[in-house]
Amino acid sequence: MARGGGCCDGCDAMFGEKGARRALARYLKHGLGGEESTLAGWASSGGLEGATVLEVGGGIGQLQAELLRRGASTGTIVELSAAYEPFAAELAAAVGVAGRSSFVLADLTADGDDVPAADVVVLRRVVCCSPRGVELLGAAAARTRRVLVASYPRRSWWVRAVVRLQNAGFALLRREFRVYVHDPAALAAAAGAEGLTRSRHGRGVVWESVAFARSR
Ligand SMILES: C[S@@+](CC[C@H](N)C(=O)[O-])C[C@H]1O[C@@H](n2cnc3c(N)ncnc32)[C@H](O)[C@@H]1O
Repeated sequence: MARGGGCCDGCDAMFGEKGARRALARYLKHGLGGEESTLAGWASSGGLEGATVLEVGGGIGQLQAELLRRGASTGTIVELSAAYEPFAAELAAAVGVAGRSSFVLADLTADGDDVPAADVVVLRRVVCCSPRGVELLGAAAARTRRVLVASYPRRSWWVRAVVRLQNAGFALLRREFRVYVHDPAALAAAAGAEGLTRSRHGRGVVWESVAFARSR
C-alpha cells in the first residue's frame, strides 16, 4: 500500500507490487538505462567518497544503490509506496550494499520532517506524479548538501499532448493518478530558493535531466 494524500493522488494503485517486481527484474537484467546513467554520472562527478545519498520517490532505489557501489557511504530511499520495500532490499542485496541502504515510508512534502539531509539527492521521474511537484523539488533541494539530480517530462507540445491523452485514459479507467508536466523554470526557481543553481542539463525525446549544485 502507498500513503494517500494530495501529493500523489492514486499512487497506491499506480505504484504497487507488480510494477516494483517488474522494475527489479528489468534492473537485474539490463542495469541502469541511459537517463539513469547520466544522472548517476552527474551525481558522482564531484566524488562520492563518504557521501550520503537520498533517493526521493526512489522506488526500488537503483540509483542510490549505484552511488553506494561507486563509493558513497549510506543511502536512503524515501517512498510513498510500501510495495517497493522488499524489492529495494533485494536489489541492495544483489549489488552488495544491503547494510548501507535503508527504506523510509514517507511523503516528503507532508511528513518528511524526519528525513535527513544528504550530500547527494536523487529525484528521478517523481515530480511528474504530483500536482505539487514544484514543492516536492523544493523539499528535496532543502535536504541537498551538495548536488541534486532530477528528471521530469519535457514541456514540449508533443509531450504535453501525450500526457493529455494519458490522463484522459486514466480518467476513462476511473483511476485517480495523473501525470503533470511542470514548468522547468518553476522547478529551477524552487531549487534556487534553497540555494541550488543548475549545473548540468540534458534533454531526451521525453525526459529532461538536470543537476543542481549548492551555491550557498
Ligand atoms: C514514476 S515512479 C519513479 C520511481 C523511481 N524514481 C525510478 O526512477 O524508477 C515515482 C515514485 O515517486 C513516489 N513519490 C511520489 N511522490 C512522492 C513523495 N511526495 N514522497 C515520496 N515518494 C513519492 C511514488 O510513490 C512512485 O514510486
